[in-house]
Amino acid sequence: MFDFRPDADLPKSELYRELVNAAQALVSGERDPVANMANVAALLAEYLPELNWAGFYRVAGEELVLGPFIGRPACIRIPFGQGVCGAAAADATTQLVPDVHAFPGHIACDTASRSELVVPVFVDEKVVAVIDLDSPRVERFDREDAEGVEALALALSPALADLSS
Ligand code: SME
Repeated sequence: MFDFRPDADLPKSELYRELVNAAQALVSGERDPVANMANVAALLAEYLPELNWAGFYRVAGEELVLGPFIGRPACIRIPFGQGVCGAAAADATTQLVPDVHAFPGHIACDTASRSELVVPVFVDEKVVAVIDLDSPRVERFDREDAEGVEALALALSPALADLSS
């Protein structure tokens, strides 16, 4: 059994350090990318407060396809360049969106979502997936969250290597 309960008072830097360690423990020794994404989505949803959606989209050609997640059913295919996820994949950069209503082209899968953080996962310098976090609170995510999830994406790269084949 995996039991992981963060201390609510932890500073964000420490919270993300623990999250990355826990994710590495979860994926250690397993190459199946679906299993690894599923467990990390569950970890994110359990560990980070104020989220209504946490999960993955994976790259398939010139679009993103829905991967494992926790939250309401979501749009399945997102072309590169569309929405927050498509922007992260097309530009290979983190997208930190304080208010999704102010983001041109935001794709509303869950109307409860008010802010969003999307971080690409790289394998051999190519984007193979994005981590998508949605919150019902405006300005839920800041630079520390972005850096924390970028550290997670870096740590997950070997566990998602088979997505590039
Ligand atoms: N809002 C995202 C779509 C995915 S859902 O949030 C799960 C976007 O604009 O790309």
